Amino acid sequence: MKFFIDTANLAQIKEANDLGILDGVTTNPSLMAKEGINGKDAIYKHYSDICEIVDGDVSAEVISTDFKGIVEEGKVLAAIHPNIIVKVPMIKDGVKAIKWFSSNGIKTNCTLVFSAGQAILAAKAGATYVSPFVGRIDDSGWDGMELISQMSHIYTLHGYKTEILAASIRSALHIIKAAEAGADVCTCPLDSILGLLKHPLTDIGLAKFLEDAKKL
Ligand code: E4P
Repeated sequence: MKFFIDTANLAQIKEANDLGILDGVTTNPSLMAKEGINGKDAIYKHYSDICEIVDGDVSAEVISTDFKGIVEEGKVLAAIHPNIIVKVPMIKDGVKAIKWFSSNGIKTNCTLVFSAGQAILAAKAGATYVSPFVGRIDDSGWDGMELISQMSHIYTLHGYKTEILAASIRSALHIIKAAEAGADVCTCPLDSILGLLKHPLTDIGLAKFLEDAKKL
């Protein structure tokens, strides 16, 4: 399973990249706003800065909601760097635009996916990635991992090439469950990635080894 970091924070992106396990980055307008990035030029520069740090796919989300606008915006985003993936919402014009992008060699990430039906449409349109929002599904009392399993089953059965990108990850356990359920990629906050490191027996074991090493 590939690991993406789900943030627009450059320090966190560098930290995850330095771990040597990072395959890419996802952002969204909320994450960009959180970093105080304002205006088109600053946003485009920020995507370019992210691409300089990470050698992997970087999702940049469009804010247009009509076919023509999404295509025009996506073309500009894709021109920033060869690793940019145009992130498009799961709406009618979004599906049309994903089809246009896939026919014109531009990679996409279909975002805001909450059902298997939406996932089938994204795959049919030729999305490179599809992003089911696991955490937001859990937040509403449904099971986000069930959707990942269902999508994995359907995509395998029908040979769809679209990669399942588990998004809206809230914990280290979510990452493990997404891997078990068949996600191809998991996009995670830095804390959830670092959470995978933690085990008290590792800390206890290391303390004992270091103590015994002093006797050598
Ligand atoms: C990433 O592609 C998504 O935009 C992101 O994971 C959404 O996460 P949230 O539900 O924590 O906002």
